[in-house]
Amino acid sequence: MEKIVLPDIKDIHILDIYLQNGGYKAAQKAFTLSTDDIIDQVKKSGLRGRGGAAFSTGLKWSFMPKTTDKPKYLCVNGDESEPGSFKDRQIFEYNPHQLIEGILITAYAIGAKIAYIYIRGEYHKWVKLMQKALDDAYAAGYVGEAMKEKFGTDFFCNIYIHKGAGAYICGEESALMNSIEGKRGYPRVKPPFPAQNGLWGCPTTINNVETITNIPAIINKGWEWFSKIGEPKHPGTILFGVSGHVNKPGVYELPSGTLLTDIIYNYAGGVIGNKKILCVIPGGSSMPPLRGDQLEGVKMDAESLKLVGSSIGTGGIIVMDEDTDLVKVLTRIAHFYHHESCGQCTPCREGTGWLEKILKRISDGKGSVNDLDLLVTVASQIEGNTICALGEAAAWPVRFMITRFRDYFEARVSKEVDLQVANKVHSMRHTEIPLAEVKN
Ligand SMILES: Cc1cc2nc3c(=O)[nH]c(=O)nc-3n(C[C@H](O)[C@H](O)[C@H](O)COP(=O)(O)O)c2cc1C
Ligand code: SF4
Repeated sequence: MEKIVLPDIKDIHILDIYLQNGGYKAAQKAFTLSTDDIIDQVKKSGLRGRGGAAFSTGLKWSFMPKTTDKPKYLCVNGDESEPGSFKDRQIFEYNPHQLIEGILITAYAIGAKIAYIYIRGEYHKWVKLMQKALDDAYAAGYVGEAMKEKFGTDFFCNIYIHKGAGAYICGEESALMNSIEGKRGYPRVKPPFPAQNGLWGCPTTINNVETITNIPAIINKGWEWFSKIGEPKHPGTILFGVSGHVNKPGVYELPSGTLLTDIIYNYAGGVIGNKKILCVIPGGSSMPPLRGDQLEGVKMDAESLKLVGSSIGTGGIIVMDEDTDLVKVLTRIAHFYHHESCGQCTPCREGTGWLEKILKRISDGKGSVNDLDLLVTVASQIEGNTICALGEAAAWPVRFMITRFRDYFEARVSKEVDLQVANKVHSMRHTEIPLAEVKN
């Protein structure tokens, strides 16, 4: 299977090796095309964003105004702070020049002369690796003013790395822009959208690291080629980061639509100790979890996951075996979102606190069945009532975990029942629970 984003080429992170393997030829080609042509090709390729929402990349680029007296900007989102997501750092480490080349082509297509790569604050090692690749590209004339001569074009683009300071919320696109501006990482109310009013009030496009790294291959090999890989409605390969109770955790680049069970059992080596699976979160901790008996036939792409009431998110697959304490897991997830809430809107600021408090009560053996209903009510009151999608990120795991594992949680709140019995009760009864619908 051909890999697009993380090819199996030794030392491809080194500029000379990247050049020997056709590096920067896509940019050379792109600069001979019109910007409309590039946007059209990316639209037709079917590429959808890999940062969580799976939005059409070409369509997003087309929202940028053609004529404006303001500068335009590109922000590349490498904040990657969602628990269970650890794929963009592989690109920083193993294929940084393809990301840089993708940035040059994207910047050209949208008319940006400045691009920022926003990297998660804790990624010290990856900031250094990415900076080294960028310095080498500058020194060789592939980035900055020197690229005019190198590529024989009027276009040039400067790229800067901006390090975050450890806040998950700064991965949200408008908080990310505030952070780059030196302000507190507060998400902005939308509209206006970034293409109209983004960085410093100027037209801005924000894309994920993996999304942008696909661009050189689309320009080199054509949109038809890309659109035929994997599932037609969400084509290409996806970096799946598998963690939890598997024998071989790691990042696997596979065609979209690969079976979830194939990823877990064949690529990630199956479940440790051959245990059964209790629960899988398919796209990072904010996505609706799936029950162990729901996994058969589930394909990993945006449309297929919607059909089973979940979402592709960032492709971070978290596998939990039959002995997992789901109350502990959910309490930990709720703690994370409570801690990371920026506090601007009341439903999220207060609601995430209540979710954590109630779950702690259940963890401490002081919960009741009413608490389960209360959790679902609080989660439902956060959803759709906040400035940014951190509200949904906090609410979904709670609402769907409680709904889909109701028998498990009921067993845990009835005082006499311990963890083993709760897991057993669940495995006897879980086929009876109806699936809930996901609002996307
Ligand atoms: C709370 C929150 C955190 C986010 N964190 C990230 C992140 O770390 N990386 C990312 O690419 N997108 C993240 N997003 C999504 C971005 O807002 C944005 O949709 C994305 O960067 C767009 O890129 P794409 O179209 O290429 O997917 C986050 C969204 C929210 C609500
Ligand atoms: S939803 Fe939460 S994180 Fe987002 S703006 Fe409101 S308080 Fe901040």
